[in-house]
Amino acid sequence: MSYKNILVISTSYRSGGNSDTLADAFIKGVQERGNLVTKMNLKDQDIHFCKGCLVCQNKKSCVIQDDGNEIVEKMKNSDVIVFATPIYFYEMSGQMKTLLDRTNPLFEDDYQFRDIYLLTTSADEDESSMNGAILGLEGWIKCFDGVSLKGVVKGVGIDQYGDIEKHTHILKEAYLMGKSIA
Ligand SMILES: Cc1cc2nc3c(=O)[nH]c(=O)nc-3n(C[C@H](O)[C@H](O)[C@H](O)COP(=O)(O)O)c2cc1C
Repeated sequence: MSYKNILVISTSYRSGGNSDTLADAFIKGVQERGNLVTKMNLKDQDIHFCKGCLVCQNKKSCVIQDDGNEIVEKMKNSDVIVFATPIYFYEMSGQMKTLLDRTNPLFEDDYQFRDIYLLTTSADEDESSMNGAILGLEGWIKCFDGVSLKGVVKGVGIDQYGDIEKHTHILKEAYLMGKSIA
């Protein structure tokens, strides 16, 4: 049986928080379907800002010696990448944006990923609170031929630690999305 290699990147520093719990629900669905899944939490990683030197465009690797290189390599070799992020000032988390900038070495490289998913939570009850994060992620996706945004979970009205547990329909949506990957 062939399976998909799925990388879930949880970007919040709040372990077991709202978006991290959405990531776990998604993973449960992936595992039940029988695909291979790896989860990474950016809070456990040492990732520095892109310096903008563009050395990576010739060398296909980054001059910064930190955990960013290993994560980017894992992204490169995954079929599916899933980002879980809280909404910070109507955008993706800074942690997630920092990682996306560090993927510049992949720009001219042979990356395997094709499908991207986004799992988000915000205090705001309006789904438009996710628009900035979606637009930002779509800007990144646009730079990679053949890659597209396949699904977004919009966990609105979810703020305090543990609030996500009261929103069972959102957790179910993430679980079913994970399970739907064929
Ligand atoms: C620095 C910061 C900025 C935030 N900005 C927004 C915002 O612009 N809009 C909003 O609806 N919620 C905002 N929030 C609330 C978070 O999006 C919300 O609590 C989310 O569920 C946290 O997810 P987490 O538990 O995965 O970290 C902000 C929270 C923090 C800490």
